[in-house]
Amino acid sequence: MKKKSTEIFEPFSLVVFGGNGDLALRKIYPALFHRFIAGQLVIDFNIIAITRRDNTEDEFYKELKHFIQLSIENDQDVSSDIERFVLKVKLLVIKENTVAAYAILKQHLEQFPTFQNIYYFSTPSSAFGSISAALKSSALVFDNSKVVLEKPLGFGSVSSQQINDEITEAFIEKQIYRIDHYLGKETVQNLMVLRFANNLFEKSWNRDSIDNIQITVAENLGVENRAGYYDNSGALLDMVQNHLLQLLCLVAMEPPNVLEADELRNEKLKVLNALRPITAKTVKEHTVKGQYTRGRIDNKEVSSYLEGIEKYASKTETYVAIKAFVDNWRWKDVPFYLRTGKRLKKRYSEIVINFKKVQHNLFPEKKKMGHNKLIISIQPDERIELVQMTKIPGPGGYRYQPISLKLDYSDTFKERFPEAYERLIMDVIRGNQTLFMRQDELQAAWKWTETISRSWKESKQANILYEAGSMGPIDNIMEQEHEWETNKEI
Ligand code: BG6
Repeated sequence: MKKKSTEIFEPFSLVVFGGNGDLALRKIYPALFHRFIAGQLVIDFNIIAITRRDNTEDEFYKELKHFIQLSIENDQDVSSDIERFVLKVKLLVIKENTVAAYAILKQHLEQFPTFQNIYYFSTPSSAFGSISAALKSSALVFDNSKVVLEKPLGFGSVSSQQINDEITEAFIEKQIYRIDHYLGKETVQNLMVLRFANNLFEKSWNRDSIDNIQITVAENLGVENRAGYYDNSGALLDMVQNHLLQLLCLVAMEPPNVLEADELRNEKLKVLNALRPITAKTVKEHTVKGQYTRGRIDNKEVSSYLEGIEKYASKTETYVAIKAFVDNWRWKDVPFYLRTGKRLKKRYSEIVINFKKVQHNLFPEKKKMGHNKLIISIQPDERIELVQMTKIPGPGGYRYQPISLKLDYSDTFKERFPEAYERLIMDVIRGNQTLFMRQDELQAAWKWTETISRSWKESKQANILYEAGSMGPIDNIMEQEHEWETNKEI
């Protein structure tokens, strides 16, 4: 057995199961390539892509180069770097998860006996158990091995726990990296700095000063070629259960004592456990679900969800809005509005903190006073805005209007922003679990979202249809002043 390593940056063999799949080609290899040309991979490494398909070698290397090139901005010429990188990637055909079939992998890995082995499971999660078992039986799991798991981990708390139990036959929790790529986004990490490196906000980050919080992840894409997967998940499991709840945790959690994986995860878990269950009695007034019909996006006709998946009776939701509450000291009765949908007018993700209005308007002009808002734009533009009421210059007394103070990331920081996967994969290599989910977090997130899907079934809540290219169904869970605000006009 290899010696347990305490080194921070060990040479590695990265084995990608589902190695010629979409995620691997679009995200994993380009992410490593960017770290490679940035000079961050100062250690030796090799990558092994595992596929089940025969005779795909030429096609694989062609696609590998194509997707890496696609990830390069500004037409930079990196062709010689691509050639150097591709030499590090080996494609192996393995058709079954058995010791006999893994012999070829073992042989390959044994050429690098001092490297840490990182196994990246980029396959459907139903295969995670058998891959783990085959790796263990092949004596390929060492103390310093790691495993990276892509979502979705099962289709509910039971299947997720079952998959986890299978994986933990081979790996212990300290070796497991459950990816939620939202946690790797620069602006999401900045949320931590904004909250905990600035005294200004922390003092008013609570129910006394905050009226409501809105977390939105809007997409203009449809389900593309993922109908088989998506139709079994819907927006609630595909987006809310992971990305939106992780954002909510970062906004709502207490400051961890130190920035260490378990300290942070303990705080996030407390938030998840404090989410008020949405029951069959409350589900109608606290949630909206919808499905898109035909419409136009960027002046192009797009088909409805049902036409896209060719399954005309599907009741899967492609939009969901939830009014959630975190029942704890800090957040009692402050609504958190979560919204996400496909085929909406525009792709954007943002968090809006709406502060309470001033308690008394002393100005003669009795125009409605808005909320002070802190808007954290996550994508596509990375920006922080502080909206405040400001006097309109000139005569006419105290006339006022809301004005934004803007910190535009791209104006302030000129360097390239790494993709989420770059940060996350480097963290796996270095053994830093801070940005990865622990099993108990995942179970708590399942528990809350499953109560919602169960309540939808029990109360027979139907989808509201919305036109592709719109901003989603009429959101009747919102009171007038809490309307889905910042991007409504675009
Ligand atoms: C994935 C979901 O996790 O996140 C997709 O499965 C979704 O349905 C995607 O499109 C959104 O990620 P991003 O980074 O483009 O906002």
